[in-house]
Amino acid sequence: MLEHDVIIVGGGLAGTRAAVEIARSQPDAKIAVIAKTHPIRSHSVAAQGGIAATLKNVDDTDSWEAHAFDTVKGSDYLADQDAVALLTQEAPNVVIDLEHMGVLFSRLDDGRIAQRAFGGHSHRRTCYAADKTGHAILHELVNNLKRYGVTVYEEWYVMRTIVEGGTAKGIVVYHIETGEIKVIRARAVMLATGGYGRVFNTTSNDYASTGDGLAMAAQCGLPLEDMEFVQFHPTGLYPAGVLISEAVRGEGAYLRNVHGDRFMETYAPNQMELAPRDITSRAITLEVRAGRGVKLDGSAGGPFVHLDLRHLGREKIMERVPFCWEEAHRLAGVDAAEEPMPVRPTAHYSMGGIPVNTRGQVRSSADGLTHALYAAGECACVSVHGANRLGSNSLLECVVYGKLTGQAIAEDLPTLKQPDIDEAKYLREANVRVQALLDRRDGERIDAVRQDLQDCMSEHCSVFRTDEVMREGLTKLNAICDRAGRTVLGDRGKLWNTELIEAMEIESLTVVAQTILHSALQRQESRGAHSREDFPTRDDGKFLKHTLAYYSPAGVEITHMPVALGMFEPKERKY
Ligand code: FUM
Repeated sequence: MLEHDVIIVGGGLAGTRAAVEIARSQPDAKIAVIAKTHPIRSHSVAAQGGIAATLKNVDDTDSWEAHAFDTVKGSDYLADQDAVALLTQEAPNVVIDLEHMGVLFSRLDDGRIAQRAFGGHSHRRTCYAADKTGHAILHELVNNLKRYGVTVYEEWYVMRTIVEGGTAKGIVVYHIETGEIKVIRARAVMLATGGYGRVFNTTSNDYASTGDGLAMAAQCGLPLEDMEFVQFHPTGLYPAGVLISEAVRGEGAYLRNVHGDRFMETYAPNQMELAPRDITSRAITLEVRAGRGVKLDGSAGGPFVHLDLRHLGREKIMERVPFCWEEAHRLAGVDAAEEPMPVRPTAHYSMGGIPVNTRGQVRSSADGLTHALYAAGECACVSVHGANRLGSNSLLECVVYGKLTGQAIAEDLPTLKQPDIDEAKYLREANVRVQALLDRRDGERIDAVRQDLQDCMSEHCSVFRTDEVMREGLTKLNAICDRAGRTVLGDRGKLWNTELIEAMEIESLTVVAQTILHSALQRQESRGAHSREDFPTRDDGKFLKHTLAYYSPAGVEITHMPVALGMFEPKERKY
């Protein structure tokens, strides 16, 4: 059996930052990062607009307290305020540390890191590398894995996490290149597998964002927290859904309806285009519903609105947001210096996830912890984002909580023992699962089932929700889940069988989709990104609490957990 001291599942920002932290303080620890793609292709690489931190390079009136307040208000008061305080206090340190690692941030004329405006932030505090910030950071972190001697298993798909008697013991992995299955044991296991955007048919997320880590945790009997809160980024490029960074609006672009009106005046008269994402996505959806969206021929009644950058001028566009210009040019045939871009909301980010405390330890219930299991980044919910995340706080969360979780693992390692695992049993079970998929002769191909699942979630659990629409969605989803368990493969080989991986991923998608819908149905209020037309207001009396959803093949059970308040009293959000 393979073994390491620490296994980190996921090669994105949170996982790599944790690996660096552990290696810095426990240089002898045998650390492994297991990733289903090459780490550089983790979805963090696609993050565009920036990372928030109160460096005060362009606004010396900024403070961590202001950043914390903006984050809590943006979260519609569901964020845990102790976790937010840590996030915002640590932010300048982690950004400077990244700079020391060699991250090529954009600069002010005097050489300090440049900072731009972002939605819901009261000060200019978002540090950036043009509109390729995730790319710039991830490359340096992955370089550092080599520097610190971290073992990287790239293109290994993790089939399950082994948790026995409340203790994490290791993982079962499938080598995509060879079809080999292995058990790896470890003294500590960390999940950093990112999000689940592929549950929806229009998403800014890459193909690998299938919620595997969340599904694995749920299948170990662990709860998932606040899964009803799905972020729809306001400006997905139409029709592809890829991200057009909020940085474009941070640099001054306007949102316009078919009449050319800057409609955000109606919805957020003070912040306008830089309102938080939940408000801006609802505004776009309402404009489209009211017939003020645009069609491809420019007439009224279409499915998108316009993002207008023309007044910024070609030089500024090419300096600050060149990648967004290129995407619109390549995928929509639009030269954004001359014409507006077609945009509409796109599934972007999961506020919920595997519940963790501020040391990254995975909760087994509202008041219990899973021994030796940790999580950070988008797959986790330390709840710094509550019901709605502010842009540029997610790279920050990955780096701050990647670091803090790495620190916690390094501190705990001396007390954690290499566990005993019945390797033969886990190998047998994994081989049976794979062989069953390869041997099945009757059934549907995966792509049709996946498409139906994505269409179902986009139609029944999107920017606006009602009980009736979601219940209809749940009925459809249950039927789709049955079909997902009976898919048939065209490729029955073992080498580079990406269809086999898709068959395992669709199981993750079904688990995640069910927890989202059940969590959304029980929250009978509107808060942040969870907007119920049948319960249009926030109800602090009943719902100022976190949702914990326990998945099992028999259904999803819901319990709740208190919110950590303390710094800021809940108030009405106005922008
Ligand atoms: O719009 C963006 O660049 C996305 C940033 C984020 O999600 O934090």
